[in-house]
Amino acid sequence: MDPRELAEHLRFYQELGVTGISRDAKWRRRSDPDAPAGLGVEPAGDPSLPVAEAGGEPSPAESRSRDVTSEPIALLRSAAEALTTIRTDIGDCTRCKLHRLGRRQVVFGVGNPEADLMFVGEAPGGDEDVQGIPFVGRAGQLLTKIIEAIGLTRDDVYIANVIKCRPPENRNPEPDEVETCEPFLFRQVDVIAPKVIVALGTFAAKTLLKTNDPISRMRGRVYDYRGAKLIPTFHPAFLLRSPERKRDVWEDMKKVRSLLQGSAGDE
Ligand code: URA
Repeated sequence: MDPRELAEHLRFYQELGVTGISRDAKWRRRSDPDAPAGLGVEPAGDPSLPVAEAGGEPSPAESRSRDVTSEPIALLRSAAEALTTIRTDIGDCTRCKLHRLGRRQVVFGVGNPEADLMFVGEAPGGDEDVQGIPFVGRAGQLLTKIIEAIGLTRDDVYIANVIKCRPPENRNPEPDEVETCEPFLFRQVDVIAPKVIVALGTFAAKTLLKTNDPISRMRGRVYDYRGAKLIPTFHPAFLLRSPERKRDVWEDMKKVRSLLQGSAGDE
C-alpha cells in the first residue's frame, strides 16, 4: 500500500479514538499468507479488533471500527510497518532549521519494533549522523554494554532520540527543534508500546515527562508514561565524563530488569 494512503488510514483510526496497539502478540500477526517472513501468520480468530484485548464487550471505538474495512486494521497489527510509515512521514525532513545546519541525514531509530524496552536519547552526534543509526559512537558503545548488563542485546530493544537530526557542534537541542520533532518520538512510543522506557539524560526525561526537574531529581523514581513505566537515568555521555555515576545507572537498570520481569512495584 502507498505510504500516504497508509498514513491516512492511521490518522482515521486516531480520529476513531484508537490511541495505540495491543501488546498482545496475536494482534500483531498478519492474516496475509504472503506476509514477509518473521511477521507470522494469523491463526483463527476475530480479525476486527485493532487495539483491545480479545473477549468482553467491545468498546464504542471498537464497535465503530467493526463497521469499516479490515484492511487498515491488519496494517495496524505490524509495528514494523507502522514505524515505516512514521519514517516515511518524516521524509528528508526540512521542518526545522537543523536540515540546513549541516546534518547529513535523519537518524530515525533502531531495534525491535515490538520491544518491551525502549531507550530514548537526546539527538544524534557525529557518528550517528554518518551512520544513520542512534547511539553508535562512544556513548552508544557504553549504552550497548548497559543493555548487555541486564542480559539483553541491542536487537532486543528499541533505541531512538528526541530529535532525529544532529545539532551543529553537538549543541543542545533548541526548544523549537524539540517541539517540531517530538511528535515523531511520541508516535514511535505509541507504536512500539514498550513496557519500560529508559529516558537517557535530561532532554529525554524533560521531553517525555514535560517537566523542568533536573535529571538528578528524577532519577531513582519510576513514572507512569503512555501505558509504560518510565525510568529516567543518566545519559551515557555523562557517564563517560563522570564514571562514578555508573553505580546509579546500574541501580536503575536493575529496576528496569525487575519491571520487565513483572516484579517491581511503583514508587
Ligand atoms: N547521544 C544521544 O543522545 N543520542 C545518540 O544517538 C548518540 C549520542
